[in-house]
Amino acid sequence: QRPGHVSVVIIGATGDLARKYLWQGFFNTYVNQVKGGNTFSFYGGGQSSSDKATPLMFEILKGVSCPKDMSQERCALLKDQFLRLAQYRQLKTLEHYQDLAKHIEKKLQDEAMTETGRLFYLSVPAYAYADIADKINQSCRPTMGGWLRVVLEKPFGHDLLSAEVLASQLASSLKEEEMYRIDHYLGKQVIAKILPFRKENKKFLDPIWNKHHIERVEIVLKETLDVQGRMSFYDQYGVIRDVIQNHLTEVMMLLTMRLPSNLSSSEEVVQNKLRILDSLLPLGKNQVVIGQYQGYNSEVQLELNKTKDHISLTPTFAAVLAHIDEAQFEGVPILLISGKMLDKRVGYARVVFKNDIFCLQNQNGVHCKPRQIIFYFGHGSLQYPAVLVSKNLFKPVLMDAEWKEVTEHSDVSVLGLPVSDYYVHTPTKQHEAYSELIAHIFSGHKNSFISIENLLSSWSIWTPLLSSLNSAYPRIYPGGEDNGHMLDIHLKGMDISYKNEVVIISPDQTAG
Ligand code: BG6
Repeated sequence: QRPGHVSVVIIGATGDLARKYLWQGFFNTYVNQVKGGNTFSFYGGGQSSSDKATPLMFEILKGVSCPKDMSQERCALLKDQFLRLAQYRQLKTLEHYQDLAKHIEKKLQDEAMTETGRLFYLSVPAYAYADIADKINQSCRPTMGGWLRVVLEKPFGHDLLSAEVLASQLASSLKEEEMYRIDHYLGKQVIAKILPFRKENKKFLDPIWNKHHIERVEIVLKETLDVQGRMSFYDQYGVIRDVIQNHLTEVMMLLTMRLPSNLSSSEEVVQNKLRILDSLLPLGKNQVVIGQYQGYNSEVQLELNKTKDHISLTPTFAAVLAHIDEAQFEGVPILLISGKMLDKRVGYARVVFKNDIFCLQNQNGVHCKPRQIIFYFGHGSLQYPAVLVSKNLFKPVLMDAEWKEVTEHSDVSVLGLPVSDYYVHTPTKQHEAYSELIAHIFSGHKNSFISIENLLSSWSIWTPLLSSLNSAYPRIYPGGEDNGHMLDIHLKGMDISYKNEVVIISPDQTAG
């Protein structure tokens, strides 16, 4: 791609997401790309007038930080340049968008620049997408051959039907290749490493990545925070729509999909993901346990101005037992677990292998060491993201120079084993997920974004379950550290109990 000018427009420029991640992500990209020859303009946009929003936006921009290894002088220079390239514009009416387009074109002409592209980041509620996309389409398309990329944040619908409606509204303004649907979990370094890890370690994994050797797969995201301040969104969505239908389902696909022969072919990645979604067995009510933290309902009443007799059934916790109807993973339990106000903040995906051939007899009886591979997203006992492979499994290859082996271990234990029992690999530099994805948007790599087929297919898996849970009462659990018992979940077909970080599966007592 020839260097030229890139116009970046963040709509929702002073919102929470922009404040926490987006401006920082765009600054990082700017820092990485200044040498590449591209020039940039950054526009913050929103409903508010310029007088009101400009100071707020610049407050955020001043707070961006430079890479740790950059000198103070260089950092100050780049920040100063970044601030000069930025401006806030009210973007409410079609005229506002037309003015923006005129402004961009004038700049290109005045400075005799070619245009690389225009990137619009819609950091606004999904109900505003169709209208904004329409205005962009009518007035802001590059006229001299640059690209148009429009980034959309979840939620992409509330169920299959609403996702289809949204998709068709957007399709009347934008082409599929112009839309970048973000799932920030795909930007987490450890999650982005799942497929490369599987490929690099193919020779070890091929013989054991199947139902004969895998006992279960767990994908877990536990959070300690409540949802205060987000009720108008959260109470309509709940945990399954908020994180399981998207983040955890994506991770499940990466673990179980057929390995693409070419990891950078988004076509192959999409097709292989779809194959897994298509082979998921329908999820019934008895494969899920839902919960709600105590106090949630009073938060709803307060925040949403509801009366005291209003009862919300929105789950803030769910554990789902899924199965893939495919020879390779037939019968392997796949657990997807997430909740708010739980005992600790931790996120991981792990594949636990059967232990029968790795059990040793000693004076205390039979002693089996779990054999597992863990993709640890961070937080919790281990403070850094990592891929861990138990030493009685195999010594993994991580050829990527951006990853290093951790050899100095503290005495923490990770999911049932002291950390010294694993080969541990961690990224040499930690990157924030949004920054990673923003860099991918610039380079036009669509692998880390959600395709429309993928999105609709995922909703078609989750929608029947969500409908069947419509009037189901969640179990109430006390929020905070003392909620271990809530996680004692039992799912039919198999007696699964999950307590803190340990899953025990035994034959279902009620079966038969
Ligand atoms: C978001 C959800 O998509 O992901 C939040 O809306 C959740 O409810 C968050 O807290 C978790 O992401 P992370 O990166 O903090 O693990």
